[in-house]
Amino acid sequence: HVARAVELAGESDGLTQPHPKSGCVLVAADGGVVAETFQLGQGGARAEVLAADAANGGAAGGCAYLNLEPVHGNDAGEDAGVNALHRAGVTRVVIGIAHPIPGTRHAAVDALRARGVHVVVLGDDDLDEREEEAKQRGEASGASREGEMLRAATREVVAAARARNRALLYRVATGRPFSVLKYAMTVDGKIATTSGHSSWVTGPTARGAVWAERARSDAVVVGGSTVRRDNPNLTTRRKDGHLPARVVLSRTMDLPGVEEENYGLGTYDTQDDGDDGEMAAARAEKRRKPRTNLWDTSEAPTIVMTRTGARPEFQAQLRELGVEVIEFDDLTPSAVAEYCGKRGYLQLFWECGGGLAAPALNDVVIHHVMAFIAPKIIGSSGGPAPSPVGETGLDLMTDAMTLRGLALSTHGRDVLLSGYLPAVNTSGRLKRDGDGDGDGDGD
Ligand SMILES: NC(=O)c1ccc[n+]([C@@H]2O[C@H](COP(=O)([O-])OP(=O)(O)OC[C@H]3O[C@@H](n4cnc5c(N)ncnc54)[C@H](OP(=O)(O)O)[C@@H]3O)[C@@H](O)[C@H]2O)c1
Repeated sequence: HVARAVELAGESDGLTQPHPKSGCVLVAADGGVVAETFQLGQGGARAEVLAADAANGGAAGGCAYLNLEPVHGNDAGEDAGVNALHRAGVTRVVIGIAHPIPGTRHAAVDALRARGVHVVVLGDDDLDEREEEAKQRGEASGASREGEMLRAATREVVAAARARNRALLYRVATGRPFSVLKYAMTVDGKIATTSGHSSWVTGPTARGAVWAERARSDAVVVGGSTVRRDNPNLTTRRKDGHLPARVVLSRTMDLPGVEEENYGLGTYDTQDDGDDGEMAAARAEKRRKPRTNLWDTSEAPTIVMTRTGARPEFQAQLRELGVEVIEFDDLTPSAVAEYCGKRGYLQLFWECGGGLAAPALNDVVIHHVMAFIAPKIIGSSGGPAPSPVGETGLDLMTDAMTLRGLALSTHGRDVLLSGYLPAVNTSGRLKRDGDGDGDGDGD
């Protein structure tokens, strides 16, 4: 049932900002499921409240299953989740993972226990550590096969619960947004031709997966050169749901002028991709006035991040169009991630070329990589063609950054290989209560 709560929590994926995703399953005393709910978005009714309403007393004496501990207590200014579970009359609550924010963690668990509810938090139990200790004591052979299977299943459900709210967990552990680097390359490792033409490396199914990941993000990040060459839209192509900000990092501010024509090299990201008529028509209209897509803020917000004092008159022109311009004394991926963390962003989706991807990786800003690989070979023509990651300064293969937790999937004719990079600026564990300043505003 916790696995089902994780699944339900995923229902709000891409429809809301990537704030905590919560699902709830209420089971009656006789074992029958009486409610399955999820919180649709920030500020919406809590999954537990919706479930208690739906159960209408039918879960009395039963059990609640949650993927994530609800926020509770003075720090959170909130008691709706715990009150709803109390109102539902459950005597047991099984939770996938505790709330990660220090000060909030275990507040709901303690409150429920104080009301006499039996609470189990699956993720609190470090099964690997316990097993290792048992092994060292020579007790491993005593474990029954059923017990082993149960532990394996528990580990799986805890991993799924963590993955569902990974952006929040990373943000609490690192103080920065969870950052995903995505690129689309040919089988010979090129993200564009020698001339810079890059539309299209992958097919429509893979591009659909990219739009879905944009919708899970607070901001989509590119560098100035991608704006100059590709004139991207960087929208989710959806009418409803969360709109991530489009962020351009440009140190020079040598970007297309507000009235300048900008066809890009191949209208990257601007073609109709089987959208329905209304949106396709709007984009066709735009192509008749081929200005820089990101300067049109009617569809989604745009933020340009630049160096202090770069082209102030142009900055003023952009601001007049509704583009936000933020200046940095030193524009680095690290400073940008820090700033976006303070702004409350939980997930950044880096869709830049190799010139920006390399410093972002070197700054240890990137946590997850999505590499789309198209079954195409392009080679080069009179000069090198760009690859996904530029100058890292690494000279030995033994120094390569190694992805972990790999996943492989196919999208039409394209393959997606994704994996996590170890965040070396953390110990890999969440801070314990009282370790941090507890300023996470992830809920
Ligand atoms: N297939 C794909 O997945 C994909 C995705 C994106 C792009 N592309 C292709 O990649 C090519 C562009 O590659 P690119 O690497 O030049 O892309 P980029 O995404 O534009 O990144 C480089 C730019 O980032 C800006 N920047 C800001 N801070 C920086 C910093 N600290 N260090 C380095 N750069 C910083 C600079 O802009 P300023 O020069 O304005 O200061 C720099 O020119 C194009 O041909 C495009 O079509 C392909």
